[in-house]
Amino acid sequence: MKELAEILLTPEQIATRVKELGAEITKDYQGKNLIVIGILKGALPFMADLIRQIKVPLRYDLMAVSSYGASTKSSGAVQILKDIETGLEGEDVLVVEDIIDTGLTLKYLLRNLQARHPASLKVCTLLDKPSRREVEITPEYNGFVIPDRFVVGYGLDYAERFRELPLIGVLKPEVYEGK
Ligand code: IMP
Ligand code: MG
Repeated sequence: MKELAEILLTPEQIATRVKELGAEITKDYQGKNLIVIGILKGALPFMADLIRQIKVPLRYDLMAVSSYGASTKSSGAVQILKDIETGLEGEDVLVVEDIIDTGLTLKYLLRNLQARHPASLKVCTLLDKPSRREVEITPEYNGFVIPDRFVVGYGLDYAERFRELPLIGVLKPEVYEGK
């Protein structure tokens, strides 16, 4: 694809890792009341594939939060644009994210969900960019640690584009600069 400078992860690499994550989660959640919460919109493809690799009964729901723009830094609170419809008290909650960058979005979200008194609260992210972290967050499940590059595909977007790509790629700089 002409807008991509490089393919970072192929569909095959993603599928293999998603299978491994599913097996790990399956082992850890035997006999638990698992609720998977996907964060819109980026986590949708990942969550759809992941839940089919988890072999314990589960329920899933979706939340949407306002995010910081790619270049903007915000110190304000993240807003919940769409909340889940059921309570979490006593449930084992697994939050599924596309990528952890500064960690600000997830930090806010975890504090908000913790206040609902789940039995447990863990995070599964497909990608982790630890070099950009501003707050301390370590996901319990992580697909791939990636370098500080802006990536798109498999749910991740630049200005709402490229989410439908089956792979994860690095955008060419002229795609931003051409704006
Ligand atoms: P954080 O609060 O900085 O951790 O923001 C995480 C959110 O920023 C993700 O859910 C993405 O929507 C977005 N994001 C961060 N890095 C990238 C990237 O490389 N490509 C696409 N979106 C990104
Ligand atoms: Mg985004």
